[in-house]
Amino acid sequence: MEKIPQTILFLLLLVFTFVAAENSTAHRGGGGADEFHVGVILDLGSLVGKVSLASISLAVEDFYSVHPNYSTKLAIHVRDSMGSEVQAVSAAIELRENYKVQAIIGPQKSSEATFISKLGSVTQVPIVSFTATSPSLTYDSSPYFVRATLNDSVQVNSIASLIKAYGWREVVLVYDDTDYGRGILPHLIDALQHSDTYVPYRSGISLSATSEDIMQELYKLMAMQTRVFIVHMSSTRASLIFTMAKDAGMMSKGFVWIITNGLANIIDVLSPSVIEAMNGVIGVRFHVPKSQKLDTSFLIRWNKIYQRYNPIQLPLNKSISIVGLWAYDTVWALAQAAEKVGVSGNRNKRLQPHKNSTCLDSLAISINGAELLTEIVQNKFRGISGNFDLTERQLQVSVLQIINVVGGTWRHVGFWTSKNGLSRYLNQNELEITGSSASMPDLNSVTWPGESTEIPRGWEFPASGKKLRVGVTSSAYPEFISTSKDPVTNATKVSGLSIDIFENALKRLPFALSYEYQAFDTAGDSTSSRSYNDFVYQVYLQRYDIAIGDITIRYNRTLYVDFTVPYTESGVAMVVPLNEKRNKDRWIFLKPLSKGMWFGSIIFFIYTGVAIWLIERLNGNGHLQDLFSAKQLGIIMFSPISEGRDKLECFLAQIVLLVWMFIFLVLTSSYTANFASMLTVQQLSPAVTDIHELQKQGAYVGFHRGSYIEGLLEDIGFHGSKLKPFDTPDELHSALSNGSKKGGVDVLVLEVPYIKLFLEKYCNGYTMVGPIYKSAGFAFALPKQSPLRADITREILNITGNDTIIRLEKKWIEKKQLSK
Ligand SMILES: *[C@@H]1O[C@H](CO)[C@@H](O)[C@H](O)[C@H]1NC(C)=O
Ligand SMILES: *[C@@H]1O[C@H](CO)[C@@H](O)[C@H](O)[C@H]1NC(C)=O
Ligand SMILES: *[C@@H]1O[C@H](CO)[C@@H](O)[C@H](O)[C@H]1NC(C)=O
Ligand SMILES: *[C@@H]1O[C@H](CO)[C@@H](O)[C@H](O)[C@H]1NC(C)=O
Ligand SMILES: *[C@@H]1O[C@H](CO)[C@@H](O)[C@H](O)[C@H]1NC(C)=O
Ligand SMILES: *[C@@H]1O[C@H](CO)[C@@H](O)[C@H](O)[C@H]1NC(C)=O
Ligand SMILES: *[C@@H]1O[C@H](CO)[C@@H](O)[C@H](O)[C@H]1NC(C)=O
Ligand SMILES: *[C@@H]1O[C@H](CO)[C@@H](O)[C@H](O)[C@H]1NC(C)=O
Ligand SMILES: *[C@@H]1O[C@H](CO)[C@@H](O)[C@H](O)[C@H]1NC(C)=O
Ligand SMILES: *[C@@H]1O[C@H](CO)[C@@H](O)[C@H](O)[C@H]1NC(C)=O
Repeated sequence: MEKIPQTILFLLLLVFTFVAAENSTAHRGGGGADEFHVGVILDLGSLVGKVSLASISLAVEDFYSVHPNYSTKLAIHVRDSMGSEVQAVSAAIELRENYKVQAIIGPQKSSEATFISKLGSVTQVPIVSFTATSPSLTYDSSPYFVRATLNDSVQVNSIASLIKAYGWREVVLVYDDTDYGRGILPHLIDALQHSDTYVPYRSGISLSATSEDIMQELYKLMAMQTRVFIVHMSSTRASLIFTMAKDAGMMSKGFVWIITNGLANIIDVLSPSVIEAMNGVIGVRFHVPKSQKLDTSFLIRWNKIYQRYNPIQLPLNKSISIVGLWAYDTVWALAQAAEKVGVSGNRNKRLQPHKNSTCLDSLAISINGAELLTEIVQNKFRGISGNFDLTERQLQVSVLQIINVVGGTWRHVGFWTSKNGLSRYLNQNELEITGSSASMPDLNSVTWPGESTEIPRGWEFPASGKKLRVGVTSSAYPEFISTSKDPVTNATKVSGLSIDIFENALKRLPFALSYEYQAFDTAGDSTSSRSYNDFVYQVYLQRYDIAIGDITIRYNRTLYVDFTVPYTESGVAMVVPLNEKRNKDRWIFLKPLSKGMWFGSIIFFIYTGVAIWLIERLNGNGHLQDLFSAKQLGIIMFSPISEGRDKLECFLAQIVLLVWMFIFLVLTSSYTANFASMLTVQQLSPAVTDIHELQKQGAYVGFHRGSYIEGLLEDIGFHGSKLKPFDTPDELHSALSNGSKKGGVDVLVLEVPYIKLFLEKYCNGYTMVGPIYKSAGFAFALPKQSPLRADITREILNITGNDTIIRLEKKWIEKKQLSK
């Protein structure tokens, strides 16, 4: 169906071109203008080809009407590559042989350009392509290749910053499995990685894929959780993809489609039905500054030519696409260079075609090819597409435009520059663009697929209606998590602090998520070694989408899964019995004062007594005459001040007594205080404080069965026979209270959150020592790169950041106490 009009078109075109060429030379009255043969290789069946051809014809017309007395004139020879590399190459050889073309415009496709640019280098014929964008084509490998467009790697940073700006973390690449499609991949993936975007899948659609293949691929994409797609395809394939995606319901709310330069640049000329299917797509395109040249009269003339070439098609009443502008400017650049260089070699208008000589060896080298290349590359001018500067052998660009396809046309969203990143307006000299700020850059609002104005979150979890599989397990501490099976419905019933935090976090998420609990199968035997490592490993095996419980963040678990932030405090500590030394020391009452203090006090006491006695005696106090009154003196010294003073007659003795009284007061109060504090401290001091000490003593250590603490203790150097695993807090309690002499343990090593519960339950006689190790606390485990992790983490922080966590912790601990 398609081939017939194409062929007709091609024939018409050739005839027309020749006739036009004859006519124009005729007009020049056979004088001056030498024909400068230029080959044009395009895929005339494609939209880009049709647009380019119209532009090239218009450019030739326009150029020589502006410069009527130029001594050269481009003679354009158009060849249709029909999308085939072989056809394109053979056209290039044929053009070179038969017309001695001095330059070739095109070829259209990157894969065609790869070989033809090599051919150009051999024959020294400049190859100027305004459509071959694959970055794998380099100037180094083919020095006669000039890219009158951008290479595809220019836009990757803008796409990456767009993705970052909207907060998406995963994208799927959909591309043509051709040189053009693959060329961008390394650059794009590098840029995405640089902005922490993960590419879980790449979908290369081969050119031979049928509609069914494509539909199947689309269903595959739809079943994945990522909802952001970057489409890097030729217009023909992309049109098909978008129409089919619309049919598959993938152009609806929640999906994000980003198109690259290649498609966005020709969005103006896509057919209305495709544009309609693409509603909500965003894209990156070359920014064409407003210019006077690009006015309505230009557009009308262009449309006339386009219609002349494509009479069968509906009239395109649209603006010319960027590719068309580049084609136009390329011809101007070439025509100017041609005038400077002049026609080379054989001045015959047309050489006799040598049908027999298709051998590459016979290809002549263009005499002034190098000169022509220099002229093309050095000729900077202001073209219709903006500054046309090929000095770097490709178009220089600093501004890209972000667009949004909506309502059958496109809207401006913002600009991207390599210097300033994304911004709504193009204010080069304004520094208020805060590119560094993490907040959303100022962009025009976008209408997303499904006419939604809400920024899609970029993923759907889980894909297509499945429920989130939440793995749960029973903990030895039902306060954290306990699971049971409803005997009638087989439904898993769960409760505990972990569950409350998880459900609270899900409730706070800005989107609804349906989930179901799946108990971790402990093979029906709750006392068997039920290892949390195994439980976490199930997440890696994709049996669960998330694992909930008192799962400690451990180094070697993070090799398989990603954790949220912890929701408990952390650490590993010991539980030890309290010291009972208090009753053992009979002389403890002497301890508050040091020996020197006791001695000094006694000496001072005797001295004061003697002094008072002597003073009184010398003053003739009747009460203290005989030796027996020493007893009375004692009474005075230890009786209340007023009373004692009455008995003393001498003022001096009273003063000495007063000094003694003061010192005595200080002594007694400091003794009382010391003694009291001593008793208290002794009561609370633990029996052991150092785990390494215990290890040397050969103490027995208790811990939870299946916990990583075992490995930890072995690392410290405990022998396996000294380690005793227990399942429940009751067993731990009984073992610790028995002590190692009665077959129990000397110490327990547990995680701090457990210790809190343990001490809550058995508060008498134990205390916590430590933490001896740091650990990261309890968290939930998710598969690596899960997009849900960031959201749940944020909500856990929100829960632990205000009093919700206190409320939840209270709920589980108080409930415990009531049941006791
Ligand atoms: C070629 O010239 C003839 C007469 O000069 C004219 O009738 C014809 O329309 C011209 N063709 C084109 C394509 O310009
Ligand atoms: C040819 O062009 C030059 C400069 O562009 C101009 O000075 C001259 O008048 C032109 N000659 C003719 C015959 O148009
Ligand atoms: C592509 O363009 C960028 C920016 O102009 C340039 O740095 C890079 O070298 C180009 N790559 C190739 C392969 O031409
Ligand atoms: C094309 O647009 C012009 C004005 O922009 C209008 O006058 C003309 O009727 C349109 N033609 C078609 C075929 O839509
Ligand atoms: C083509 O080449 C063959 C052998 O080289 C020769 O016999 C034949 O005459 C040639 N044909 C033409 C048309 O030159
Ligand atoms: C519950 O599970 C048991 C064993 O797995 C099965 O035999 C029974 O049919 C299940 N009951 C329901 C209601 O699904
Ligand atoms: C982590 O390391 C411990 C030993 O320290 C080992 O028993 C366990 O199997 C490891 N877990 C994983 C998931 O590799
Ligand atoms: C502790 O001792 C009691 C009786 O003395 C005994 O029943 C219990 O099994 C012991 N516990 C442990 C863990 O040894
Ligand atoms: C939790 O989130 C709410 C809104 O979602 C916010 O207002 C609040 O400040 C957050 N609380 C904390 C502690 O981050
Ligand atoms: C804690 O956060 C929740 C949710 O944002 C809110 O409803 C609650 O009032 C907050 N509590 C306090 C004390 O701020």
